[in-house]
Amino acid sequence: MQFKDKVVLVTGASGGIGAGTAKAFAREGAKVMLADINVEQGKQRLAEIESAGGEAAFFPIDVTSAEHMQALINETVRRFGRLDIVHNNAGISGGNHFTADVTETEFDQIVAVNLKAVWLCMKYSIEQMLKQGGGVLVNTASALSLTTIPGSAPYVATKHAVAGLTKTAATEYGAQNIRINAVCPGVIRTAMLNSHPRLDEMEPKLLALHPAGRLGEIDEVVNAVLWLASDGASFMHGSLMTVDGGWTAA
Ligand SMILES: NC(=O)c1ccc[n+]([C@@H]2O[C@H](COP(=O)([O-])OP(=O)(O)OC[C@H]3O[C@@H](n4cnc5c(N)ncnc54)[C@H](O)[C@@H]3O)[C@@H](O)[C@H]2O)c1
Repeated sequence: MQFKDKVVLVTGASGGIGAGTAKAFAREGAKVMLADINVEQGKQRLAEIESAGGEAAFFPIDVTSAEHMQALINETVRRFGRLDIVHNNAGISGGNHFTADVTETEFDQIVAVNLKAVWLCMKYSIEQMLKQGGGVLVNTASALSLTTIPGSAPYVATKHAVAGLTKTAATEYGAQNIRINAVCPGVIRTAMLNSHPRLDEMEPKLLALHPAGRLGEIDEVVNAVLWLASDGASFMHGSLMTVDGGWTAA
């Protein structure tokens, strides 16, 4: 129960990595606000947490909307009294096009979800954390914050930008007891991977990127996020923690 009575917000909590962290924080005693655009799956995740004895709520949100994001932070504080930990995690992948073939619509959408929304969540969370004297943010960046693969320019650009946001904000708020770090997963088996338009062709290539000889599992990222959010990581500020089977070390 290492997060007993802590208030935790997870964006992108309806599926994949975010659903994993929401459940794990709840198991560890936290009061968890799940936020996602996928309402049906979000309510399922909430029911699973509650039936396991956890305390949680679900807030439907499009993270790209500043109005929604402010409302989410306000509702979290109204419901649970404060905001201790944020897993700023919602994200989308791209369509696997080379740079010149990316449409303006696709580019704008990826920038809105993977970059602007990450900043919005940081902005309103940090405002609340400053009022209450501290807090912890863990952004979900990516191995693609540190390296690249062809066919993913907007995704790679936004994930590099999340690294920049993480490091910059960490230098700004560390002295005010706000720790800000990012987790950088390699390829993890989630809906995002399964939705890849040419998964059969891509999977062996993706496998070959990981010296561990396999792709990652959701719990392996969850463990890193929980540790970064814990007091055990008390001197971690602005780090980009890779959980990538050695991809970016190779
Ligand atoms: N799966 C991987 O291989 C991998 C690797 C590195 C980084 N990541 C990152 O991990 C994070 C989680 O991805 P995942 O793999 O769990 O994917 P996922 O698709 O399983 O989960 C993403 C969640 O974000 C939600 N979401 C998307 N757009 C939203 C919006 N506008 N408003 C609110 N919610 C929205 C989705 O509904 C979904 O529940 C993302 O930031 C992703 O870029 C994933």
